[in-house]
Amino acid sequence: MTPPLLRAAALLALAVAPALAAADSDTLVTVRANQPGPVINRNIYGQFSEHLGHCIYDGIWVGPDSAVPNTNGYSNAVLAALKDLHVPLLRWPGGCFADEYHWKDGIGPMEKRPSMYNSHWGGVVENNHFGTHEFLNMCEMLGIEPYVCINVGSGTVQEAMEWVEYMTSDATSPMANLRRANGRDKPWKVRYLAIGNESWGCGGSMRPEFCADNFRRYNTFIKNYGGSPEDRIYRVACGASDEDYEWTDTLMKLAGRQMDGLSLHYYTIQTGSWEKKGSATHFTKDEYFETLGHTLRIEEFVTKHSAIMDKYDPKKRVGLCVDEWGIWTDVEPGTNPGFLFQQNSMRDAILAALNLHIFQAHADRVVMANIAQMVNVLQAMILTDHQRIVLTPTYHVFEMLNVHQGATSLPVELRTPDLAQSKEKIPTVSASASRDAAGKIHLSLVNTNPDAPTTVACTLVGAPLGAPTGRVLATADITAHNTFDLPHAVEPRAFTGATVSGDRLSIVLPPMSVVILEL
Ligand code: AHR
Repeated sequence: MTPPLLRAAALLALAVAPALAAADSDTLVTVRANQPGPVINRNIYGQFSEHLGHCIYDGIWVGPDSAVPNTNGYSNAVLAALKDLHVPLLRWPGGCFADEYHWKDGIGPMEKRPSMYNSHWGGVVENNHFGTHEFLNMCEMLGIEPYVCINVGSGTVQEAMEWVEYMTSDATSPMANLRRANGRDKPWKVRYLAIGNESWGCGGSMRPEFCADNFRRYNTFIKNYGGSPEDRIYRVACGASDEDYEWTDTLMKLAGRQMDGLSLHYYTIQTGSWEKKGSATHFTKDEYFETLGHTLRIEEFVTKHSAIMDKYDPKKRVGLCVDEWGIWTDVEPGTNPGFLFQQNSMRDAILAALNLHIFQAHADRVVMANIAQMVNVLQAMILTDHQRIVLTPTYHVFEMLNVHQGATSLPVELRTPDLAQSKEKIPTVSASASRDAAGKIHLSLVNTNPDAPTTVACTLVGAPLGAPTGRVLATADITAHNTFDLPHAVEPRAFTGATVSGDRLSIVLPPMSVVILEL
């Protein structure tokens, strides 16, 4: 074992784990059930859907006249898969698209809606058939919180103000009446609003000072309709990318008091180069480790951005919203480069679990995260081909770990060796624990080692240990993935590798696996 690495996954109690007599175990885990931490905001399991490639069209939305089985235009297969996933929150309509989107083009009779040129994504013509009603009705149908990103880059304050009135006002007012004329009487519940996207780049190439002032200006004119606290809109200011700490500092200094949340974007690129990002399914073991090394950098970014936020907001009122994250690879050969369609392997499942664990460890500040993107784009949950769909390994991780949604985090002390065969510093095991409203304690574990199983000696402090039950996602091949012809190659199965003896649990994690246990 290399020098022991002490990682308090929940970062709540840094006390050294008790000296466990576990000579045959590679990793020691102590879960402190008697020291509950912050609630894991369910929105950490949020998703992102942009008008990009086939995320919306031929993904979520096939149209009412399609041969693909659908309900009012939404693909039935996609709806069913999303229902099982318990998606808490969905960001829309972009991304870069949001800052060119004019919402009034997407309401009223479909055949009368004007088209627009989607300049960012493949130069295709957007027919605006999927607009405000189609998005919000879907969210309502699936019990998802909508998270709407308004156009700050090329829109106007008035446009933004009217959109909020259209969506959320129950008054006899011009925009609420327009909504009624378009067939929707009652307002929708829209709690989350992003004021622009990547304003430092595709959203307007702004300087942070200008972005902060602009946030304050838009914020002034966005009204809360309805009198209850739930009607208050949670306003997310446009935050930084990667390690742009100056951006966070300036936004917090100039607009921290006005905002509810501040965003952060970070994409994992295997090669570190945007020009040649690397393949989604053809990579070597070294490249697997390189990818995990890059993804783990998010822990440093979250920690440092949070520290800056602490300076201006020590009570942690403002939430950090990681509203774009995930792996970005080269597109699948032969597909439109502007559509960002990539396959999704077991490597991505490991990567997703590591990121979710990091967000959960920072649940005191991270209140939202949106993986990019939900269907057919980047690190997708679902891939579609007409009526056929594939659930990706990442989908399975989100489904397995969703027991942590809204649960109370429990501190985890972890002693695990770094993987010796990797040039990157990759801890063998990652762990996260929580207690849900029914009192059930869940522990999720990741073995990053693709070559060997690893044994975890686990102690649960402050709660009785029952006979654990669980599920595992694991494959022998690092590039394993699901296809339309072989959709079940990577799927969770029952886990039988946990045994209790006395107050100790011994868990054998298969190579390259994600395990969820109910203790
Ligand atoms: O998710 C794809 C794009 O990545 C988004 O449109 C943009 O915000 C980011 O750069």
